[in-house]
Amino acid sequence: MKIAIIGTGNVGKAIGEALRSKGYEVAYGSRNPQSASMPQGVRVTSQAEAAKDSDVIILAVPYLALKETIHAVGKDNFKDKVVIDATNVMDKNMKWALGFKTSGAEELSKELKHAKVVKAFNTVFSQHMGSGNVNGEQLDLLIASDHDDAKTAVREIGEKLGFNVVDAGPLESARLLEALGMLNIHLGYVQKVPFEGIKLVRKA
Ligand SMILES: NC(=O)c1ccc[n+]([C@@H]2O[C@H](COP(=O)([O-])OP(=O)(O)OC[C@H]3O[C@@H](n4cnc5c(N)ncnc54)[C@H](OP(=O)(O)O)[C@@H]3O)[C@@H](O)[C@H]2O)c1
Repeated sequence: MKIAIIGTGNVGKAIGEALRSKGYEVAYGSRNPQSASMPQGVRVTSQAEAAKDSDVIILAVPYLALKETIHAVGKDNFKDKVVIDATNVMDKNMKWALGFKTSGAEELSKELKHAKVVKAFNTVFSQHMGSGNVNGEQLDLLIASDHDDAKTAVREIGEKLGFNVVDAGPLESARLLEALGMLNIHLGYVQKVPFEGIKLVRKA
């Protein structure tokens, strides 16, 4: 499975380097491939180049940059691919940028009609994306998509990284995951509640 990571920030590096350590072929796509600061030996290309031959594309860019990112990658490069939308739907002031009647992931899916969009990773802090684990406790990775085969691919990725993967249902559930992501940020960065991640309590 070839994976393109679009965006070389906290999320891109955390997922990308963990996946590389698990043996995945990872291609990083950046707006400025020459100046991206990456570990030695990592190849960074343009966003379109990285996406072109990949099976899975992870969008690890700011929500407000999605439009320009789609344009730079090129819609054709998304065709028939699994597209993981890791964005949190917030504006520059860290406020929620959408309502409950849709989600960033559903809007993305409308833009990329021939791609298989999966909402995932937005409810996890980047520092735990590489391990799926905090202090020995396994975190949950909540995923939502209308495509079962795409969910299977993302489940494999999530489990390889160390998460307990939870199927949250169709892409419409991204409305709930995006709200949960915002709650995460609010608790961690605004209220400064000392917590590190989401874990569901299971039935006996
Ligand atoms: N940080 C977290 O804990 C966390 C957790 C869950 C979800 N998320 C979400 O994941 C996404 C990435 O978060 P992050 O923390 O990795 O952010 P970040 O450190 O700011 O990195 C974002 C990357 O996106 C790329 N990018 C493309 N267009 C951009 C633009 N117009 N402005 C700025 N950067 C642009 C840049 O890479 P190039 O310069 O190489 O193009 C940049 O390094 C966001 O949507 C965020 O809400 C973050």
